[in-house]
Amino acid sequence: MSDEPLIQLQEVTKTYESGADQVEVLKSINASIRAGDTVSIMGPSGCGKSTLLNLIGALDTPSSGEIRIDGNSLGGMSESDLASFRNRKIGFIFQNHHLLPQLSALENALLPALASSGASSKEIQDRAVNLIKRVGLESRMHARPGQLSGGERQRVAVARALVLSPSILLADEPTGALDQKTADSLAELLLELNQEEKVALITVTHSPDLGARMQRRFKLNGGKLEEAQSEK
Ligand SMILES: Nc1ncnc2c1ncn2[C@@H]1O[C@H](COP(=O)(O)OP(=O)(O)O)[C@@H](O)[C@H]1O
Ligand SMILES: [Mg+2]
Repeated sequence: MSDEPLIQLQEVTKTYESGADQVEVLKSINASIRAGDTVSIMGPSGCGKSTLLNLIGALDTPSSGEIRIDGNSLGGMSESDLASFRNRKIGFIFQNHHLLPQLSALENALLPALASSGASSKEIQDRAVNLIKRVGLESRMHARPGQLSGGERQRVAVARALVLSPSILLADEPTGALDQKTADSLAELLLELNQEEKVALITVTHSPDLGARMQRRFKLNGGKLEEAQSEK
């Protein structure tokens, strides 16, 4: 293994055009995230947290600067390479579960596998079943999202995000729509899975509780990313 960090952001900027105006949402962001890190990104609404997460997740491209993941420069990859890279390396969890209503919990967890070869392999099927069990939904495996609680739906989203064994789990306000108790238990689950799956966890959150539980805490403000000094 090389010494290169899992994720490296170098002088990353993002400018949106809105009409005649240019809005520079991110201003020369630099950061290095190592494999297995737990990271929180906090900051006021509209400061660019989702924009930053989407850049790291290769859902969007920076206006300038470079993002490297696992030694690969995202800017140098074709659209189709990016899509398969994203599918294999990165799992996403959103505030709103984004599950497909007509599919069962297990089928939803299997969705990322459909886009990759070997979707129906026994190995992937077993992994999805095990993840659904791991997130505590063994008895709800065949239920559809509409039959599940908000917390249960987020747990399905967690299983779906991990099914292809990504090295990075990106969560955009994953507990934002949950009550405190349900949010706490989802946070606990994410931290356990960070350890068990050896997946880097990067979460955007408004919750100081969730933020404080990550080893590394960043604040985004005025387009700049600042890391809080660790007390540990
Ligand atoms: N696709 C887009 N086009 C134009 N402006 C956008 C786009 N996406 C986000 N923005 C603007 O960029 C800023 C940051 O948005 P966002 O990253 O969603 O913030 P946060 O997640 O911190 O609330 C906001 O002012 C938003 O309106
Ligand atoms: Mg956001």
